[in-house]
Parts: sequence; structure tokens; C-alpha cells
Amino acid sequence: MIEDGSRILSSVVSSQLDVHAKYGGVVPELASREHLRAITAVVRQAMEQAACSYSDLAAVAVTQGPGLVGSLLVGITYAKAICFARGLPLIGVNHIEGHIHAVAMEAGAQLAFPALALVVSGGHTHLFEMREPGAYRLLGKTRDDAAGEAYDKVAKLLGFSYPGGPILDRLAPHGNPNAMRFPRAKMKGNELDFSFSGLKTAVLRWTESRDMTAEIQARRDFCKHTPHPTLDEWLALTPQTTRDAIAAFQATVIDELLTRSQAAADSIDAQSLVISGGVACNAGLRAAAQRSRLPCAVFFPTPALSTDNAAMIAAAAFPKFHRRDFADMTLRANAALTLAGAK
Ligand code: KG4
Ligand code: ZN
Repeated sequence: MIEDGSRILSSVVSSQLDVHAKYGGVVPELASREHLRAITAVVRQAMEQAACSYSDLAAVAVTQGPGLVGSLLVGITYAKAICFARGLPLIGVNHIEGHIHAVAMEAGAQLAFPALALVVSGGHTHLFEMREPGAYRLLGKTRDDAAGEAYDKVAKLLGFSYPGGPILDRLAPHGNPNAMRFPRAKMKGNELDFSFSGLKTAVLRWTESRDMTAEIQARRDFCKHTPHPTLDEWLALTPQTTRDAIAAFQATVIDELLTRSQAAADSIDAQSLVISGGVACNAGLRAAAQRSRLPCAVFFPTPALSTDNAAMIAAAAFPKFHRRDFADMTLRANAALTLAGAK
């Protein structure tokens, strides 16, 4: 629950990663079932933590898309039911805009415009120009995998559990990123676009060029019995050469993200750079962004607001609330909803 667009009264996140982990990725059917199972308790907990009742609410915001349609439908139906029962306005929010608002609500007036937004998650790697709050122009996007998807796929092929991004991030400082070099993507056409599938294939070829079957299987077997291995347990299962490959992979992703962000920031004379989405949790990316020669101030959300959460959706709904840009009961989930033409 959010007050005045920026004060978080409560933020409850129900993780279903354990349900999906044994399948190595999100299973859409299970995701919607878990949403249905969790939603009543999550809403109740959010109200309790905020010490609010339904009569204190001014509006209900809900993610309209993009995302998995089954999960979106659960949220939209629940939000509509509250609005219908309590006579409240309903506000549909774009998930990508939500990620940007996770930063905007914390940065407040410090966020100078024009701003550049890099949204990096399991589903997105997009660069947007923001001339002013709410005005987006797409500058570049991934042509294949999203950055988080590349992390998860590389982690999976190396035998780590899902989601692999946070695991590789914690292992990367234990390797030498200069011990090997993975290729950088050369983009024809829009040089602000990204591509991560070549990098993923390069890591795959690297594993195939060595006999790593036993090592990879040992990690897979270990996490079958131990759902959340500690860093020390992962390290014990990961020889130095593999740690080096992880460090080199992470360095390549960070380099791709920051090189293009720098070029995009220069091209629009950006006064600030917002980096948000699950991959914005990445410690290596945060450190590299602070070290880099980016031409403007860089803003990251606090880690809890980097990955998916409802507070950012409520924050993104506020400008719409003030414009009285309300949805009605015909609001539909849109799995392919775009922001400035980007899905
Ligand atoms: O924003 P998010 O919670 O959900 C989507 O909208 O996709 O992002 C989840 C993604 C996953 O791919 C996960 O592996 C990645 O963010 N991620 C990370 C880190 N923490 C989460 N990737 C790299 N390093 C991290 N520390
Ligand atoms: Zn997200």
C-alpha cells in the first residue's frame, strides 16, 4: 500500500520460486494457481501491515501486462472485485512502467529530466528516454534473450538452480573475469539494441569444449536435496575455471548493459540514469555503474524494490490517479502490453 505516490505503508511479496525451481523455470499453469492460492492472504497482510481497512483506500492499482496471462487475470479479477464491492476506482498499470517507478518513488525530485531508463529483468532489457515523467520513447531493446533470461539459462546449463541470476552474481567475485573472453554482440542497425543469445551459446560451447558432465551433474544432484545451497556449498561444487567463466560471463553482461547505456545517455543528453528490474539487484552491475564514466547520476532501487513487487505498481498508478485515468470493469489482461512500442 502506498500513500501520496511515494510513502510505502506496506509491501508484501509472496515468492513462488520454490514451486518453479524444480522445473528450472516458471511454469505458467503453476504460476496462476499459486497466485490464486496466495492473493487473499497477501492483500490481507498488506492491509494489516499498513493498519488500514478498505474504507481507507482511494483506488486499487493492478498490473494489466505484459506478463503471463493467467497470473495477470488473477490480479485483475481480484482488483475488480474489491473496486466493485467498495465503489473504488480501478487503475491498470504497465509492468515495465512499474519497474521505472520503483526508482522514481525513491529518488523523488532528485531524478532530473531528461532521464534514461534501463529496465533489465527476466523478461525485459529495454532502454527508454524519459523527457518528462510519463513520456517514454524506446531507444533500444534486446533482439533475443533478456539479460535476466541469459543469467537464468547460463546458470541452468551449468547445473545451478533457478533463478540463476542471484547465484551467478554471488559466485562472480570468486572468479577472474579476465581469465577468458566471451564475445560482445555487434548490432547492425540500431546500436542501442542488445543481444544475449550469442553470449549464452558461447558459454554452452565453452562447457562442451571441456569434460564438465560430472561437475554439472554434481551441482544438479546437490540442489535436488538442498533447495537453497549456501555460497560456500556452491563454491565447494564449483572449480576455479568455472568460477572464472562465471566472472567473465557477468563482466560481459555488465559491459554490454553499461556501454549501451552510456551511448544512449550521451545521445539524449540524459541528466539521470534509472536502472531497474530484477537484474538491477546485481552487485557487480551496481559497483560497475558507480565506477563507470556515465555522464549523469545513476539511480538503482533498493534491492527489495528491484524485483517484482506491488509497491512499484501502486507508485506508477499515482499520476493516473491524479489525472483520473481510471479503468472500468472491462479492463482486460494484456500479456503483450507495450510501453512506447516495447513489450
Ligand atoms: O523483475 P523480476 O523480478 O521479474 C521479471 O519481471 O522478470 O526479475 C527476475 C529476473 C530473473 O531472471 C533473475 O535471475 C534476475 O532477475 N535477477 C538477477 C539478480 N537478481 C535477480 N540477475 C542477476 N543478478 C542478480 N543479483
Ligand atoms: Zn518485473
